[in-house]
Order: sequence, then C-alpha cells, then structure tokens
Amino acid sequence: MTSKTFSLRDNSTGGQVELDVRSGTIGPDVVEIGSLYPEKGVFTYDPGFASTASCSSTITYIDGEQGVLLYRGYPIEQLAEKSSFLEVAYLLLHGELPGQAQLDSFIHSISTHTMMNETLLRLFNGFHTNAHPMAMVAGVVGSMSAFYHDTMDIYDARQREIFSHRIIAKLPTIAAAAYKHTLGQPFMYPRNSLDYTSNLLRMFFAVPAARYEVDPIAAEALDLLFILHADHEQNCSTSTVRLAGSSGTNPYSAIASGIAALWGAAHGGANEAVLGMLEEIGSAKNIATYVDRAKDKADPFRLMGFGHRVYKNFDPRATIIREMCHRVLNQMGQTDSPVFDLALKLEEIALKDEYFLEKQLYPNVDFYSGIIYRALGIPSSMYTVMFAIARSVGWVAHWQEMIIDPETRIGRPRQLYIGAPQRDYTPIKKR
Ligand code: CMC
Repeated sequence: MTSKTFSLRDNSTGGQVELDVRSGTIGPDVVEIGSLYPEKGVFTYDPGFASTASCSSTITYIDGEQGVLLYRGYPIEQLAEKSSFLEVAYLLLHGELPGQAQLDSFIHSISTHTMMNETLLRLFNGFHTNAHPMAMVAGVVGSMSAFYHDTMDIYDARQREIFSHRIIAKLPTIAAAAYKHTLGQPFMYPRNSLDYTSNLLRMFFAVPAARYEVDPIAAEALDLLFILHADHEQNCSTSTVRLAGSSGTNPYSAIASGIAALWGAAHGGANEAVLGMLEEIGSAKNIATYVDRAKDKADPFRLMGFGHRVYKNFDPRATIIREMCHRVLNQMGQTDSPVFDLALKLEEIALKDEYFLEKQLYPNVDFYSGIIYRALGIPSSMYTVMFAIARSVGWVAHWQEMIIDPETRIGRPRQLYIGAPQRDYTPIKKR
C-alpha cells in the first residue's frame, strides 16, 4: 500500500478527493483514479492516453526528456554495442541476460521453429501479387491460430513459451514468403544453421538457381536495427496487443492486431513513408517548400520521420542508427546515395527551423531505418514488415506479462458522450 496521496479539489461542490499514488522504480509516479467514478461519478479524459499509465510493467523504461531507453534496466546504447538481437530477445522475454547454455538453448529453439506449415504457406497464393506485404503478414499471422492448436491455452506457461518462440522464429519466414510472392519467385526454405538475420537475408534474396553469400555487414546492420526496434513500452501496437489479449483471445490473433496497428504511417509505417517523402521532395532545392507545408496547419502534410510522442529532446535509437547508416553506406559503396544526401540536408534544415525547435520535433529512428533498408536492397513496402519482425519480441513479452499480471482486467475505456440525448423513435413517414 502506498503512503503518498494526491488531492483533487472539485470546484463545483467544494469537495476534495484523496487519491493513492504509486511509485515505480524510476520515472513519474502514477495517481490511482479507480475510486474517482464510484466516489465522485466522473471519468478522466485523456485522448491518446498521453498522461495515462495503462498497466505496470518491468520490461522497458523510457525517459523522453533525457533521451533514455532501457530494456530490463540495460541502456540501449550498451545493448546495441555489445549484444545481439536474440540475446536481447531473451532478455526482454525473461528479464535477465542469459548464461551461455541458456542462450544456446534459446537460439536452438528459435532456429528450429523457423519452418511454416505447408498449408499456411499455400495461403499466400490466395493473395494478389500486388498485395501489400503487411496485409499478407497480418493475415497469415492471424491464420496461425487455425494451425497451431497446441499453443492456444493462454494459461499454460509452456504453451505460452512455445507460442513466443514460434512467432519470433516464423515471422522472418512469413515476411520472406510475402516478398517472394510479390516477386513471383520460388520461396526459399529457412536454413537453421544460419544466424537469425543471415537466414532472413538468404530467404529474401537467394534463388534456387544460384549460389548466395550473405553479406556480413547487411546481417550486422539488420541485427542492430532489430535490437533498436525490439521494444518501446506501451506504444500503439504493443498497447493494441495488450488490449486485444486482455479479452482472452488467442495469442496469434492478439499479435495480428498489433501488426495491423503498426502499419499506420504515424507508427511503424513511418519508415516506408519517409522514403516516399524523400522521393517526392526529389531534390534539395524543394526542401523549403516541404518544410513550409509541414508547418501549414491547413495542409495535412507532416515531415515523416520527425517527432515522437515520448522523445522531446532526441531519440536515442536515432543517434545509434545514424552512425550505422553511415557505416552501411560507406561499406556498401553507396556514399553518393542521393536519397541519403537529401535526408541529411532535410535533417539539417529542420533542426534549425524555429517551428521544429519550438515543438521539439527531432528525427526519430524511422528517419534513418528506411535508408539502411534501401541500401540493403529491401523494397520500401517491406520496411514496416522488418519493424514487425523486431517488435514481435516486445509484443510477445508484453502479452506474456499481461496474462500473468493479477491486475489484468479486460481493457474497456469509458467515454465522454457528446451525441444526441435520449429521444423517441419517429416513424419514417414523419421524418
Ligand atoms: N511534421 C510537422 N509537424 C509535426 C510533426 C511532423 N512530423 N509531428 C508533430 N507535429 C506538430 C503537430 O502538428 C502539432 O502541432 P500543434 O501543437 O500546433 O497542433 C505538434 O507538433 C504536436 O504533434 P502531435 O500530433 O500532437 O504529437 P503526437 O505526440 O500526438 O504525435 C507523432 C507523435 C510521432 C505521431 C508525430 O510527431 C508524427 O506524426 N510524426 C511523423 C510520423 C513518424 O515519424 N512516426 C514515427 C514515430 S517513431 C517510430 C514509432 O514509434 O513507431
């Protein structure tokens, strides 16, 4: 029980309400408002949940003012430098860094769950070749609930674990199948002897007719991007997974709803939108026009890859990825990339602009990720799918945490009703 309280004064009645306050390990306290409605008959109003903590969590911590991102307490900078995507996945899922035997066993489990049921693979033939890969991936992941009946009991810890490994292991396979379907190329089966990102690159780019060597820089860059995208506390898609999961739906359906939420341009779809925007701007001489459009309230255009709900100083992931972006372009001999050049000029101009400074709008992780994906030869329609592969770890970790949290209740927000008051039905001839 907390000893801190928070007083709210009701000016209409002159009454006062005392609310309990809970403290986390670090970060702002939260005011418990559960007693407000039963005692005072009022709800709180917070569109976009900008001031609302929807749950307590031990997974990820963000300090948006200071640009801090911690996974299970470890700074993202240290994990990006020293760890690997699968080790980070283990950390996010289990709460502690693994010992060597634990890591080996986890990697073995992930790399032996990579194949898809053949019938599930044939589902892709039901999609048109011009289908967006996110549509295919969301559909196929949702359909996994029709195939993997042995992991549908959400209250069985072992079934939850197998489900988690399946999602993390099969998403690259599903993504590659979607990509090959759009190309009309034969699907490449996974190769379990390869590491996670090398296997992904091979499934994407190899063809049965030719030898394929994985570029180690490409595998390393992807591994880093996946570490940076693995979790981001209660973001839109993760909250969607939690909300869908809170009804007790099967875990594959909960993840499919997260994939759908990620697709939007304000969230994971931003990386694809950044490249689209840079192509539309076309040349440095047009930047000023687009910056003016972004500032114009009457124009819905926004600078994609700029701004963040939580980071108001800098996005620490953007700092790390910016460096990798330079390295990839250098090592892949693409330093003269006009898109990267344009991106740097846009970044420079926007960072000096009064509007962007005043509103604390800085380049976010997705400003750079699309440029790296492009250098690796990944088409822009696949960028958000790549994000989904990485974020699957966070979704699964949060879903697991929610299922075993005794405070979990079905997510069911209230509203401020501003529609018509009660009125009587009018027969159609009298309307
Ligand atoms: N370009 C121009 N103006 C902007 C932008 C932008 N990219 N982002 C925010 N603003 C303005 C906005 O018009 C508003 O102005 P005003 O106060 O005058 O009405 C103010 O800044 C605050 O914006 P908001 O929409 O209330 O902020 P939010 O916290 O609700 O939205 C955001 C955050 C990320 C959705 C938004 O900044 C945005 O749409 N950015 C572009 C899309 C993008 O890059 N998304 C990727 C986010 S990082 C990856 C991820 O986590 O998925």
